[in-house]
Amino acid sequence: MSRDIWDPNVYTRYADERSRPFFELVGRVAAENPGEVVDLGCGTGELTATLAERWPEARIRGVDSSAAMIAKAPAGDRLSFAVQDARDWRGEPDVIVSNALLQWVPEHRDLLEHWVSWLPADGWLAFQVPGNFDAPSHRIIRELCRTRWKEELADTVRDAPVGDPIDYHGRLTALGCAVDAWETTYVHLLPGSVLEWVKGTALRPMLDRLTPEQQAEFLADCGRMLDEAYPARPYGTPFPFRRVFVVARKVGRKIK
Ligand SMILES: C[S@@+](CC[C@H](N)C(=O)[O-])C[C@H]1O[C@@H](n2cnc3c(N)ncnc32)[C@H](O)[C@@H]1O
Repeated sequence: MSRDIWDPNVYTRYADERSRPFFELVGRVAAENPGEVVDLGCGTGELTATLAERWPEARIRGVDSSAAMIAKAPAGDRLSFAVQDARDWRGEPDVIVSNALLQWVPEHRDLLEHWVSWLPADGWLAFQVPGNFDAPSHRIIRELCRTRWKEELADTVRDAPVGDPIDYHGRLTALGCAVDAWETTYVHLLPGSVLEWVKGTALRPMLDRLTPEQQAEFLADCGRMLDEAYPARPYGTPFPFRRVFVVARKVGRKIK
């Protein structure tokens, strides 16, 4: 298994901003009485647990590759969690939910095909991915990794990991699904610097590479550039954040 780079205490700092897309995603899943629902890349599991209220008869299973995240998962009837890489997961649930995972899985387009093939007729797949790879926050991180921090961090820079709604729409329609795909740009109002936000997600692979002294220096570099790109206002720091949503219901067979 790959190294655990996640820190649940840092990740959950912006719980409200991060949970809203989950609820907007799941709100479009019209499964009536599923027997089993799985949340892939479930993180600390609080959001997963809400699925047990949404579907009061269903068994709910959360899967995440980070032992640190799963260690925080809540207990509950009909609720179970496992440490596992989503790429190795196999199952036959009625609903698959995956919120803010697939940007970390470059080969996720192939995974989608497997996941749909394991769903029953009328099964649902719903996922959300950040669509902000071209936003200043990501461009700044890439620029630093390719210039001043090239020696330590050049190989942490990734190609754009996710597609647009239209890409996923075409792909899942071809797999025999009725697809609802859309995007939303939220303007989050952060209490402080955008640096605090990216520390919990986009910067995890870089921070994992650096010594504590290097981390402090790298974060200072990022902070300066981010504060310039996202200036603080008297009422907080507006931070636009685009997200891509896809909800697919399996209605037919793969179109060859
Ligand atoms: C941005 S968090 C999202 C957590 C949760 N779904 C939420 O909405 O708050 C991404 C999660 O994906 C997990 N993750 C990353 N790569 C993974 C993989 N290959 N398989 C399973 N989980 C993975 C991380 O451990 C982390 O908990």
